[in-house]
Amino acid sequence: PNPGLATKTSLYDTAALREAALLIRAGEPVAAPTETVYGLAGDATDGRAVAAIYAAKGRPSFNPLIVHVADREMAERLAIFSPVARALADAFWPGPLTLVLPVRDGAGIAPAVTAGLPTVALRMPAHPAMQGLIRESGKPLAAPSANRSGGVSPTRAEHVLASLGGRIRMILDAGPTSEGLESTIAAPEEDHVRLLRPGPVTAAMIAEAADAPVRDAKGGKIEAPGQLESHYAPGKPLRLNAMRAERDEYLIGFGLMPCSYNISPEADLREAAKNLFAALHLADASSSSAIAIAPIPEEGIGVAINDRLRRAAA
Ligand code: TXA
Ligand code: MG
Repeated sequence: PNPGLATKTSLYDTAALREAALLIRAGEPVAAPTETVYGLAGDATDGRAVAAIYAAKGRPSFNPLIVHVADREMAERLAIFSPVARALADAFWPGPLTLVLPVRDGAGIAPAVTAGLPTVALRMPAHPAMQGLIRESGKPLAAPSANRSGGVSPTRAEHVLASLGGRIRMILDAGPTSEGLESTIAAPEEDHVRLLRPGPVTAAMIAEAADAPVRDAKGGKIEAPGQLESHYAPGKPLRLNAMRAERDEYLIGFGLMPCSYNISPEADLREAAKNLFAALHLADASSSSAIAIAPIPEEGIGVAINDRLRRAAA
């Protein structure tokens, strides 16, 4: 951290949004919420702003960023949409789906955003704060999750402050995010859709909207480093499928059970997804030396929860 850089947290309102947009236009990244997790947003057309995002996160330069757009017109200026891509955007935008698409010539995106790939990851978020920031700054915004690289994504402003305090100027605080897990990442192909990262939009939802089969990226080459093992990791060992706490473990519960913190006493998977990262942040900050978590059913958004947990435990 840079001791000269004070990080200011501002409650999301018109004045704060305007101030954040001025920082963005000056090439300074700002943390802002989406409905999935908080992102560290910067002007995707400004190489210096993008470099500042990578620097604040300590992110390796080969790991490309998602570009956030306010509307379809902005999206179509940046990337080429196939009919399947259009069907997915029609069904799930604005919302927690990122589409990996061929970059359009002359799109003007800074090369560091795509890390040299011929594709760009595009997302139209539903959250009014990120939507407002894109409109107010007038720019497509590159925004990775607002945490140091490799750590657990932030679902509250205080998670951002704990991870990036002293490294960024401003956090727009609009309370906890509603989805709690990062967006689904999908790459529409000619006759199928590749799922690069499971998320709130499930494979079944994509297959239905695309009217095409969904294949996961397993076994293929790594295209989204979010696919790498050991990502989204807390600072302590994590044990999966735990029915009870061992000595000195912080147990994250699901369904009725004795535990340190329960992400959904009623065993509701959407509620569990919303609370999962806050639980990992709490467990990390606790005095326990290790973390354990109850089994989570592998269905619906449970697929994405288990994906993040496997990586966090790796
Ligand atoms: O919910 C979200 O997606 C959040 C919010 C802030 O929008 N963002 C987020 O960004 O999770 P990040 O940087 O933490 O994860 C982006 C993932 C990375 O795994 C990256 O490798 C992948 O997207 N990605 C970006 N561009 C890509 C591309 N052209 N091809 C394949 N994967 C790409
Ligand atoms: Mg991330």
